[in-house]
Amino acid sequence: MAAAQKHDDSLEKIAADVRGCPLCKLAQTRKNAVPGEGQLSAKIMFIGEAPGHSEDKEGRPFVGAAGRILDDLLKKAGIERSQVFITNMVKCRPPNNRVPKEDELTACRPYLDRQIALIKPKVICILGRTAYSSLLGGSSITASRGKIVERAGQKYFLTFHPAAIIYNKGLLSALEADLKKLAEEINKEEESKASLEDYL
Ligand code: URA
Ligand code: SF4
Repeated sequence: MAAAQKHDDSLEKIAADVRGCPLCKLAQTRKNAVPGEGQLSAKIMFIGEAPGHSEDKEGRPFVGAAGRILDDLLKKAGIERSQVFITNMVKCRPPNNRVPKEDELTACRPYLDRQIALIKPKVICILGRTAYSSLLGGSSITASRGKIVERAGQKYFLTFHPAAIIYNKGLLSALEADLKKLAEEINKEEESKASLEDYL
């Protein structure tokens, strides 16, 4: 789980640390580091793999083809941008979009842990295999998608990476159903909190 939150940490401070980070070799080839985006109050944290070409160019997460798919699915599920924080396992683009290597994932992990410790999301939505294996030691997202798992008091929701849709259109309806389920889960939590507060 996330490291204990330092009392003076902030999303802005993490972003600044990421932008100046020299800790792995991806620093040498990035154009822009991509810390992540969203509100401190986000209920859901989406975690992808790594920035791609468009993200590297803009310094923002999920702004290319995969990002357009994600935006569309969020809208369909009725999830507001203000409810989410979006980031990746590694904050700099691997050359030619190769999968991040173990040493890069390890070097970058403290930034993600600090983001999780600050945001305290109700649910972390794992997008695809890299985040699934690195965060939870899982192997097949196909077998586990649509499921919620709890580890060390943190809830995780598992689904495909939106980029998978680009290669296999048949996965679109599954991802769409998953995100709707995630939205219901969050709304359920909100409602039970509201009804509890009626009695306090
Ligand atoms: N794919 C990812 O995993 N992350 C992004 O930010 C964009 C594409
Ligand atoms: Fe630093 Fe992470 Fe970028 Fe590597 S990927 S240079 S650890 S911010």
